[in-house]
Amino acid sequence: MTGRVRTAILISGRGSNMRALIEAARRADYPAEIAIVLSDNPEAVGLTAAREDGVMAKAVDFRSFRGKQDFEAALNAHLMGAGAELVCLAGFMRILSAGFVAKWQGRMLNIHPSLLPDLRGLNTYERALAEGRTEHGCTVHYVSAELDAGPVIARARVPVLAGDDADKLAARVLVEEHRLYSQALDMVARALRATASQKA
Ligand code: GRF
Repeated sequence: MTGRVRTAILISGRGSNMRALIEAARRADYPAEIAIVLSDNPEAVGLTAAREDGVMAKAVDFRSFRGKQDFEAALNAHLMGAGAELVCLAGFMRILSAGFVAKWQGRMLNIHPSLLPDLRGLNTYERALAEGRTEHGCTVHYVSAELDAGPVIARARVPVLAGDDADKLAARVLVEEHRLYSQALDMVARALRATASQKA
């Protein structure tokens, strides 16, 4: 691996983190290139956005498969077909099986809107506010079989401010997500490339 690391992005919805990664990968010195965007949801707005940004984007419609195993086999076939070396989950709303995760161990990243290991799972903004926390944030981590529990790569903090509701807090965190995810991918892709060139 001497060139840029071929990276796939998996989405389910609006794809703002995906767009931040596509934008970062436009830089000539960025160590990753976005090879493909895949969505389990054919209606995902992010699919259109990726195509507008000139990136190949395909729906792998979960509902058109007999079950998770067939869906994941199709997903993996698309990843292999695109020559993906790294996978970034970005608002991908399906829990992947342990078998799938094992295939991509150490090469699959996720972004989660909390300071992991705090507040795994959904509705993190509402829970942070309900618990009266004074700070919140986001985490990029390697994906492991257990949800939101893989090794942390990077975190970013934001303050919880008086008058915050979930939307205000989410918007503040999202700005950090975009910055953090592109930095984390930069770091992981550089490390992967360095390891590969040592082996070569
Ligand atoms: C982000 O808040 C991310 O942390 C979470 O899902 C949301 C996806 O947003 N996993 P977007 O689709 O990237 O805009």
